[in-house]
Amino acid sequence: MQKELKKLPTHIAFIIDGNGRWAKSRGLIRSLGHKAGLSRLEKNIKECFYGYGIPIVSVYAFSTENWNRPNDEVNYLMDLFRKYLGKGFLKKYPETRFNLMGDMSGLPEDIAKKAQNLMDLTKDRTKFILNLGINYSGQDELVIAVNKIIEEKIEHVTRQVISDHLFTRGQPPVDFMIRTSGEQRLSNFMLWQVAYAEFYFPKVHWPAFNSKQLYKALLEYQSRDRRFGAIKEEKK
Ligand code: IPE
Ligand code: IPE
Ligand code: MG
Repeated sequence: MQKELKKLPTHIAFIIDGNGRWAKSRGLIRSLGHKAGLSRLEKNIKECFYGYGIPIVSVYAFSTENWNRPNDEVNYLMDLFRKYLGKGFLKKYPETRFNLMGDMSGLPEDIAKKAQNLMDLTKDRTKFILNLGINYSGQDELVIAVNKIIEEKIEHVTRQVISDHLFTRGQPPVDFMIRTSGEQRLSNFMLWQVAYAEFYFPKVHWPAFNSKQLYKALLEYQSRDRRFGAIKEEKK
């Protein structure tokens, strides 16, 4: 089935939305939606890397604005991240470099440590990259980059200089951005990196975004005509 796909994104990004509504529609508490969402996430990431061979996957798992949710839900999510980044991660994602996107100083200390440890241990892996956004804000990412540039006393700032100071430094921009649950907004995710991305907004909630849905999304990507501002040559 996958062989039909000729044009795959190099960098795919997911805004994994709708966990709460998925749970509610089943009479479950929101946190169980996050649990189901995490297990779906693991499957979809693996499928992108090891099934389709997509080299870079970015995921929006927790925004700086998500701290405004009830404590119980925030604590449950932090526990999920704790487990996810714990033992087993390295084996679960062979050949994958882990990159935490977000302000680590605002995370519970043990989670920041686990994330840093994974980044250190996987820094020489080159085949795949997983960018995981926890305590992430696209606007803050740019502010952090600008402050670093000032600290480094760089006088002439170019697009390249800005790109080189983002959490995704050294990586190509996002080609394909998927947000589940029908919402059609970025909610502050990867504002710089999506400049020429293709967008896809399936109605299904994240825990229901299965392998068939992923295939459908990638099939849709095939049909997009990416022009990057240029005029496409007519086929003779
Ligand atoms: C996305 O699902 C996961 C996180 C934001 C952590 P939501 O929790 O936003 O689910 P909905 O959008 O309320 O249904
Ligand atoms: C965006 O979803 C953040 C994540 C998926 C982690 P939200 O559910 O927080 O965004 P809004 O509030 O609908 O914009
Ligand atoms: Mg949501």
